[in-house]
Amino acid sequence: MRNILITGGAGFIGSHVARLFVNKYPDYNIVNLDLLTYAGNLENLKDIEQKSNYTFVKADICDYQVVTTIFSEYNIDSVIHLAAESHVDRSIKDPFSFARTNVMGTLSLLQAAQNHWKSDLKNKLFYHVSTDEVYGSLGKDGYFTERTSYDPHSPYSASKASSDHFVRAFFDTYKLPVVISNCSNNYGAYQFPEKLIPLFINNIKNNKPLPVYGKGENIRDWLYVEDHAKAIDIVFHKGTVGDTYNIGGFNEWKNIDLIKILIKTVDQLLGRKEGASEKLITYVKDRAGHDFRYAIDASKLKNELGWQPSLQFEEGIEKTVQWYLDNEEWVKNVTSGEYQKYYQQMYE
Ligand code: NAD
Ligand code: TYD
Repeated sequence: MRNILITGGAGFIGSHVARLFVNKYPDYNIVNLDLLTYAGNLENLKDIEQKSNYTFVKADICDYQVVTTIFSEYNIDSVIHLAAESHVDRSIKDPFSFARTNVMGTLSLLQAAQNHWKSDLKNKLFYHVSTDEVYGSLGKDGYFTERTSYDPHSPYSASKASSDHFVRAFFDTYKLPVVISNCSNNYGAYQFPEKLIPLFINNIKNNKPLPVYGKGENIRDWLYVEDHAKAIDIVFHKGTVGDTYNIGGFNEWKNIDLIKILIKTVDQLLGRKEGASEKLITYVKDRAGHDFRYAIDASKLKNELGWQPSLQFEEGIEKTVQWYLDNEEWVKNVTSGEYQKYYQQMYE
């Protein structure tokens, strides 16, 4: 029996992790703590909300008193911490909310875990889900490994780097059992349509311009979200306490090449002429401080814990495009805030 607190379980990656754990481990109690910001929607979890091993709690991770009460009430023995502000462009406009949620929120959870667990640290785990963006930017060659020095550039990555440091500080100072993973860019169903892939699928479908930052030459390493959830499952159960694991897709794409694949896939699935939507590509001013390249060396996770991505990129993209085309209502409701209004009423 485990009582696991998943934070940010109503968001993109968190909803996939919550679904995997609730379905795969009927003996675990899963408590999903989420504030339901613009990025969190309980609609993402409709299929598991009635399960007896699943509980949702609407709360702010920054509210230390409430977090402490949740630890006691559910006798939490493990945390999988995903709640965060996650979009780089938003962090450029409003860095404060990133420091608040990502740094202070993580600290509040760490402190609550430390207080609740300090008399017996056995069989406890604080799993912090982080990003490869903490390592900064690569040139054309090389990879981020677990030993790469931190060099964050955006307010988002600076806040995540800071939270990673706090997690390690709690391990070093209080012996809190922690584990961290740093993952590359995820894609798949339920991603809020502000990030590149869902935004562009939606725009191609609706014949809207595709705002390509700079020359479109920046490179990202893409991983299908369900493969990330499986990696989290493996690190949670088999990872060494105090260690860091890099998670990546071994799958680098220049933005513009990826965008052409999205155009091809959407046009094909909608029965349009090949390349019909290429005219939508619109080069715009580059993002400030835009990291050139991310690429993860995930060999530690592969060699030590036996994880590797299971889905081929072409298949993952086709599934993802199909999902967004089939779930027009979801896209409409998350972008208009309709789901927010509905669930706020239920949980206020
Ligand atoms: P997301 O923005 O889709 O979801 C974040 C969730 O956190 C939402 O449900 C939101 O309501 C919740 N939340 C925000 N502030 C909160 C608060 N104060 N209290 C409680 N809940 C709050 O994010 P995501 O893309 O699913 O990312 C999840 C985690 O994974 C983040 O920590 C992110 O840094 C990390 N990560 C993301 C990616 C990626 O490609 N998306 C890659 C690597 C790591
Ligand atoms: P994004 O999905 O925001 O993820 P991240 O910045 O965390 O890697 O962006 C992925 C890449 O796509 C990044 O290089 C920025 C670029 N991009 C665009 O060119 N246009 C856009 O409208 C967005 C959202 C991103």
